[in-house]
Amino acid sequence: MRINGQEHDRAPRPGQCLRTYLREEGWFGVKKGCDTGDCGACTVHVDGVPVHSCLYPAHRARDRGVTTVEGLAGPDGLHPAQQAFLDAQGFQCGFCTAGLIMTTAALTDDQRADLPRAFKGNLCRCTGYRAVADAVAGVVNTAGPAPGASVGAAVGAPAGPEVVTGAARYTFDVDVPGVLHMKVLRSPHAHARIAAIAAEAALAVPGVEAVLTHADAPARLFSTAQHEHAAEDPADTRVLDDVVRFAGQRVAAVVATSEAAAEAGCRAITVEYEVLPAVLDPEAAMAPGAPRLHAAPNNVVGELHATLGDVDAGFAEAEVTCEETFTTARVQHASLETHGAVGWLDEDGRLVIRTSSQTPFLTRRAVAALYDLPLDRVRVLTGRVGGGFGGKQEMLVEDLVALAVLRLRRPVKLEYTRAEQFTSATVRHPFRVSLRAGARRDGTLTAMRLRVVTDTGAYGNHGPSVMYHGCHESLAVYRCPNKATDAYAVYTNSVPSGAFRGYGLGQVTFAVESVLDELARQLGIDPVTMREINVVRPGEPLLAPGDHVDDLSIASYGLDQCLGHIRDASSAPGASVLPGWLVGEGMAIAMIAAGPPGGHYADATATVLPGDRYEIAVGTAEFGNGSTTVHAQIAADALHTTPDRIVIRQSDTDVVRHDTGAFGSTGVVVAGRAVLEAATALHEKILAAGDTPVVGLTATGQFDGTPRSVAFNAQWFRVAVDPDTGEIRILRSVHSADAGTVMNPLQCRGQVEGGVAQALGATLAEHVDIDAAGRVTTTGFRQYHLPTFADIPCTEVHFAATTDAIGPLGAKSMSESPFNPVAPALANALRDATGVRLTALPFTRDRVWEGLQRARRSP
Ligand code: FES
Repeated sequence: MRINGQEHDRAPRPGQCLRTYLREEGWFGVKKGCDTGDCGACTVHVDGVPVHSCLYPAHRARDRGVTTVEGLAGPDGLHPAQQAFLDAQGFQCGFCTAGLIMTTAALTDDQRADLPRAFKGNLCRCTGYRAVADAVAGVVNTAGPAPGASVGAAVGAPAGPEVVTGAARYTFDVDVPGVLHMKVLRSPHAHARIAAIAAEAALAVPGVEAVLTHADAPARLFSTAQHEHAAEDPADTRVLDDVVRFAGQRVAAVVATSEAAAEAGCRAITVEYEVLPAVLDPEAAMAPGAPRLHAAPNNVVGELHATLGDVDAGFAEAEVTCEETFTTARVQHASLETHGAVGWLDEDGRLVIRTSSQTPFLTRRAVAALYDLPLDRVRVLTGRVGGGFGGKQEMLVEDLVALAVLRLRRPVKLEYTRAEQFTSATVRHPFRVSLRAGARRDGTLTAMRLRVVTDTGAYGNHGPSVMYHGCHESLAVYRCPNKATDAYAVYTNSVPSGAFRGYGLGQVTFAVESVLDELARQLGIDPVTMREINVVRPGEPLLAPGDHVDDLSIASYGLDQCLGHIRDASSAPGASVLPGWLVGEGMAIAMIAAGPPGGHYADATATVLPGDRYEIAVGTAEFGNGSTTVHAQIAADALHTTPDRIVIRQSDTDVVRHDTGAFGSTGVVVAGRAVLEAATALHEKILAAGDTPVVGLTATGQFDGTPRSVAFNAQWFRVAVDPDTGEIRILRSVHSADAGTVMNPLQCRGQVEGGVAQALGATLAEHVDIDAAGRVTTTGFRQYHLPTFADIPCTEVHFAATTDAIGPLGAKSMSESPFNPVAPALANALRDATGVRLTALPFTRDRVWEGLQRARRSP
């Protein structure tokens, strides 16, 4: 076949799809997102017709012309579709972008007029699709800043040209000569002891090089969660264990010369299990006599019991009260690039791991500790990471890849399938939240009592800290003097939960903001006023029960402006709707600490390069959060140049001393401060050098992540509900964010839109199901229903005008927090429209319809 004008005469293997063929031929712009034709990341043209190459047999392309994103550009430059995505910045992580560009390049005029239909075969997890629509419409969103004035400008991502041409290199977009393939045999049981494993038949499969079991793995316990302070997470996991605690847990790994041989090897392994009793419900898991998963008493891996003030007296003082219990679902991150890593030994015998990770430095530390290696004998790096959302703050593959590389002394690759991503990666913690709150007639809150039970699944990674965080800012945002919290993070024999955008706050905020809405209704106070009466004010302490946080304060305050934006939105006349549909409005707020507690470290080095250019070395990974762009802007301003003169080297343990990682929304507020310090110091050195040559001059910067400030968000919806079907239509969506100095309005808006879109998915549709035996039954995008272009409304985004006293150049965080007020705002709008208070996420059409039926039946 002709690929991008070049003849390729290698015959495909029998049954091979075009996607894998193209990648084996070196066309890495063709991405793997699902292998089931659902995500469109692999879209290419065959004789000018767009196809999902994962479903297209490679042999059918014989004698045809195949075009990938690498072949779109002509002699005069980028294809118009590529240029449009670059001008509009129609991407964040960019993993979906090649597919979207290939679809866009083939759109007819009729298809352009109906983009929701035209893009039904292309998923994007990051952008919320507005930026994609802008690209198709030819909107130019980027701006070229003047030297020294790029902060605050809509600067495009430095990697933009590579992203739109398919040249950006993600984890597996590299040739590793002689690489072996690993596949993992996983447990069918939710709880079992492995009595025996017979691997002889697997080892006899042609191409199989090794079978690894618990007998080959270190006995050392660790946590897959990665935090600066490892003690935050219980050490309860082994690389390969002789006890399995969830269906989907690793049992054995097969390493072979091909994926097919590794899969055949897995099928040939015989495992004898001694099945143990399992418990899937966290309340049941805490009950006496429940099966124990680990040493933790009652399966409780973390708990919080604390009171501020006198809660009973507060309720006695209350003139209205509301009490309700809320539940949230298991949700998958669904980053389009699945978990994966490839490892090898370099010429010096050093272990190198290239991985899709948000925490390369902490992963290096964890791998080194597991295998008793000095830190400097392990190098961990990332390419561009295809989405993370917290899911890649976890060591899910690197430990196993390291074991195989060290054993075989050969390169080894492990790439999760989409099904493994659902069954064996992590999910958002399901929460059960009961909240009672009381207020005086004037709306002043007098008491709040919170009970939270979180399902951490089979392992405690992130369990205690998600629980603590969820219970903190959600209550601290209100001045109520009497608050009590009882919270439990509980082991169950379910797929492990982990870090996910919002880190527990979304779940508790759902309850708090729903109950606030009910109190306001009882009192006849409008919801914005109810918040204005009760929210924390500048200079006040941020108090929540069990507060162990002493480095957090309000270093800038824009919540009043956010509430003003929401009041303005709710004052505007509404759109007309279909006859018979019920219309309502609702809002909610959220507060989040800018960065995690306990210290988050970043180092940066700035160096003068030849040709009026500068290098910034910084550890933070880029996974679509835009931190690289902002780092380039910060450095450019400090060095009085433009961002195109800044070369960023990043996310490689060889480039700087340490970096805690790209999580906790720290890319700008922590790593950005280190970059600012390094670039400022370098500029001073340059000035001091006078006429002396400066090429090679360097300076460093550090920030330890403390003290910290808080950011605020407010969301408002107007919705229409069809009472006969439960269908919800979002008529208007408005979000206001207090991000301090908005470093890049284009990217910050993208973070808000993407966060709202992801939250709408979790609010309206997404849920990972497990059956009575504990097996995950949601194994692909077709069942999961990730939001498509057609599902996401355009959200109007406003920013408060504030400048933070702590963040670099006044900035605060804004990656995770837009997620948190979305579910309660929608719940409150549905309540307003229908009179029904929905307390269980997601609000699927059948749940809404059932709620309406119940309301009709009740007197
Ligand atoms: Fe679309 Fe990340 S930019 S999936």
